[in-house]
Amino acid sequence: MKDQLNQLHQEARLAITEAPDLEALEALRIEYMGKKGKLSAILGGMGKLSVEERPVIGALANQIKNEFEEQLQERKAALEEAKLSVQLAAEAIDVTMPGVYIPQGRVHPILGTIDRINDIFVGLGYSPATGPEVETEYYNFEALNTPADHPARDMQDTLYLPNGQLLRTHTSSIQIRYMEENEPPFRMICSGRVFRRDAVDASHYPIFHQLEVLAVDEDITFTDLKGTLTVFLEELLGERPVRFRPSFFPFTEPSMEVDIWWESKSGGRWLEVLGAGMVDPNVFKSVGYDPEKVQGFAAGLGIERLAMLLYGIDDIRLLYNSDQRFLKQF
Ligand code: DAH
Repeated sequence: MKDQLNQLHQEARLAITEAPDLEALEALRIEYMGKKGKLSAILGGMGKLSVEERPVIGALANQIKNEFEEQLQERKAALEEAKLSVQLAAEAIDVTMPGVYIPQGRVHPILGTIDRINDIFVGLGYSPATGPEVETEYYNFEALNTPADHPARDMQDTLYLPNGQLLRTHTSSIQIRYMEENEPPFRMICSGRVFRRDAVDASHYPIFHQLEVLAVDEDITFTDLKGTLTVFLEELLGERPVRFRPSFFPFTEPSMEVDIWWESKSGGRWLEVLGAGMVDPNVFKSVGYDPEKVQGFAAGLGIERLAMLLYGIDDIRLLYNSDQRFLKQF
């Protein structure tokens, strides 16, 4: 029996050193030391031993059992460590590998400019509104004190649709829609695309963007308009040479245009960035307001011109040709 035990010991030791993984190790433990394992099987014959032999064999069996446990633990620790290092190697991040390029979207400079202007006017208490791009002659012209035979309609080369509607030539049409739905006092801004049959050059494009400003209350003056525009322009562009120039619009009286000095290599020039004025009483009449009771000022800002000044872009066409090299700079 002693020989049997010793042989079992050797066999088990070899099997443990060769166990490939933790599962195999557990299987060995059951095979050798389990209740129905090989050791128990041998010890089952103890009853046939003499009284002297029994304690000797018992002690040997215990020793074998202890050593087996020890080896098992050792092997287990080694296998666990190996498993961990394999896992670590698999999950390791190689910081020297080239990165994966994730394309990143950007805000287009036109939208970026609108966002900045909105922020400034919202800070001054204005609420954003919207209106349709396809308009009727009524909202684009008539209600804005520009009747069909008015010479001012020639100022804007309009794109008409076959059904007699038109693509709005300015965002001023939204003034009328807004006033029809709201009662003064209010301060409103709205922006969007406008359309004209303009020839394309460095500062003209047939589709461009405007932002309309309209404030109506009981004692609004031209001074409020000038003050608001001065604060706004300084906030947006910093301190720059500004020129307020008398002008004419059918829907405002008096009217003006505002120019900003555009510094360039060839010397520079004045760039017209907005039209503005006091809302004409006829406009109030067309929306049912009493011009004796309320006054208001309005302004229409050219977004592209302001974007050019803001970012130092010298050709409006750059804003429309979707050149990634250009757009990635913003
Ligand atoms: N609608 C004018 C244009 O497109 C700009 C403008 C001028 C808007 C004066 C206004 C204004 O609100 O008061 O040229």
